[in-house]
Amino acid sequence: MRKKVTVVGAGNVGANCALRIADQELADVVVVDIVEGVPQGKGLDLLQSGPVQGYDVLVTGANNYEPTANSDIVVITAGFPRKPGMSRDDLLMANYNIVKPATEQAAQYSPNAILIVVTNPLDAMCWTAFKVSGFSKNRVVGMAGILDTARFRAFIARELNVSVENITAMVLGGHGDTMVPLVRLTNVSGIPLTELLDEATIARLVERTRNGGAEIVKLLKTGSAYYAPSAAAVEMVASILKDKKKVLPCSAYLEGEYGIHGVFAGVPVKLGAEGVEKVYEVSLTPEEQTQFGKSAAAVAELIEVLTRNR
Ligand code: NAI
Ligand code: 2OP
Repeated sequence: MRKKVTVVGAGNVGANCALRIADQELADVVVVDIVEGVPQGKGLDLLQSGPVQGYDVLVTGANNYEPTANSDIVVITAGFPRKPGMSRDDLLMANYNIVKPATEQAAQYSPNAILIVVTNPLDAMCWTAFKVSGFSKNRVVGMAGILDTARFRAFIARELNVSVENITAMVLGGHGDTMVPLVRLTNVSGIPLTELLDEATIARLVERTRNGGAEIVKLLKTGSAYYAPSAAAVEMVASILKDKKKVLPCSAYLEGEYGIHGVFAGVPVKLGAEGVEKVYEVSLTPEEQTQFGKSAAAVAELIEVLTRNR
């Protein structure tokens, strides 16, 4: 039997997730949105791409969760994107009020699914989905680190004029201004980045990575990035459905790892059929540990606001 993935939110990220899942023939896809006609229309359009692209998966759209029943994965992209001048955290309450009911419904119809959260502010929305669904911590995971490292890798590749495929990078922490790119562990086919670029250049690329989302928001003016984000979310979908056990930077629930308790933050995880099958604890320098602690504290502050206002 074919696998089934629900994508909640038929906007820029959601529609592109559906497109990539279909293109890679990973699963049948149900797209859910509150706007009448839009998920149905995009679903039909994607179905009709099948004969040209050569995929046989079914893509459908709906305004309710009945057709999503028994999904293997639910990707949550519903919510407002930021506009120029906004931080991801400015979306907190508005998107909580979207992610909470969306998770309730999705979890009710697909009690065995794995939830991949994309909506911002990412780590706080992962916590929301975790609490609302009641799912075990391995079945709720957030997409951010793959996107952040992809940005870092793309900038390094351009700087060195080498293939993006040769660059391995790691970014820890929350998906926000406090993210922690680990330069020490970044390499080009095994060659440490620090041997290939000077300190000032690396610092410039790190800063551009931290502001990578805002750079695109400023250019687009009406919303945020979606091609790289959807590619990142679908890499997670593929790793889970194919049980590839890829080690990827994702937002996971921490219970003592890195000295952090009760929040979601970006860490290297093994993603397989069970979802987050392992959280890897990398030894950090005292400075990296301090930065990670600050980043996790920023996420904890958002959770505190949610706890007070929900
Ligand atoms: P968009 O505005 O294009 O799409 C959002 C969609 O959600 C709209 O179609 C809207 O009708 C729908 N929606 C609203 N309330 C809903 C509900 N209750 N149920 C179902 N659907 C609902 O926005 P875009 O660009 O797709 O971004 C979506 C979210 O993903 C934003 O919060 C954005 O900040 C976040 N994002 C996160 C990234 C990450 O790295 N974690 C990367 C890119 C985007
Ligand atoms: C990004 O980093 C919007 O969080 C999203 O592009």
